[in-house]
Amino acid sequence: MDSLSRARRAHKILSTSGTHAYEAPGAGDQRGPCPGLNALANNGYINRNGITSPTQVITASKTIGIADDVSAVLAALCVIAGNGVTCSIGNSSGLGGYGLNKHNFFEGDTSYKSCDCKLCPTHPGCDNYHFNNKAWTTTYNAAQLNGGLFGIPTFKISAKQRYDECVANNTRCVFGPAQFIFHYGTPCLFAYIFPGDAGVASEAIENTWIGISYSGGQRVGKTGGEQIPDNWVPLQSPYTVPELAECILDLYTANPVALGANVGAGFVLSPSEQQLPSNPDVNDILCFIYAAIFSSAPTASLLAVARYLDPIFTVSPWFCPIFSTGR
Ligand code: HEM
Repeated sequence: MDSLSRARRAHKILSTSGTHAYEAPGAGDQRGPCPGLNALANNGYINRNGITSPTQVITASKTIGIADDVSAVLAALCVIAGNGVTCSIGNSSGLGGYGLNKHNFFEGDTSYKSCDCKLCPTHPGCDNYHFNNKAWTTTYNAAQLNGGLFGIPTFKISAKQRYDECVANNTRCVFGPAQFIFHYGTPCLFAYIFPGDAGVASEAIENTWIGISYSGGQRVGKTGGEQIPDNWVPLQSPYTVPELAECILDLYTANPVALGANVGAGFVLSPSEQQLPSNPDVNDILCFIYAAIFSSAPTASLLAVARYLDPIFTVSPWFCPIFSTGR
């Protein structure tokens, strides 16, 4: 790299010093299942106490290479998980809303780096948000078949395997529309957002964002250890909703699965209106996500969610059927 290119690159590096230096969360600070938000909090791009807001989510998302449209979708999730003004990235903050740790609200089974709730019981509740090496090993092993990289070919394998593990081992396995969004959406974030402009989803990059290190040859997660890599340059061409939808379609169609849940005797399919159509296209994926987000929203937040989502999903070129907010 010549000195001019070096200077240009230096200009684009996201700060991880000064007010954005990594700091482990303190007692009482909220952290949860999302490595992206945990790292943004640990580096001071959202409030370090883990109580953020839809507008702060938009600003922080844009800072790490996420386009306006995807940022608006993420803001809508914060509206739904919180009280419309704030949301907790961990446990319910007492300010209203469930927070992200609440199982089977947004956090769900089949996560890549955390345990299914039923499989890691603790008192009280379950540990569905810390790093769990058994869960991550499925993806780690898939990466070994793909040059050690955590790109989409890796997640095409591990998305199906994590689903199969849930159905086979978790008697309370739930895989509904919200789980669909996170199960197929988050690999695109591991594969494109975390590597940033360098474009290589290496183990070192993933480990830094997720807070994984090695001890005695074992992968261990450092509680509160998620961080933005030093000298990291975000995607210079921000990641958009059409790109995300293409990515989700690619992952899903590699190994389509049914939505449903283990209840009683076995895996019971969700009703047909909660299934993806067979041979879906990008438009089907987008409209499914749009409807799924609304379906998880409390009535009080429907209008705010519509303000974020309708300008993206209900207009050209997608024209998803408008979700009625009752107005
Ligand atoms: C700001 C950019 C964001 C990035 C880069 C990001 C990235 C990720 C990644 C890679 C995962 C997968 C972790 C796993 O497999 O367990 C994840 C999980 C999750 N994220 Fe985020 N995320 C972001 C924003 C958000 C926002 C705004 C919300 C909601 C308000 C959210 C809620 C969640 C939840 C609930 C999970 C756990 C899903 C599960 O249980 O499988 N994330 N996120």
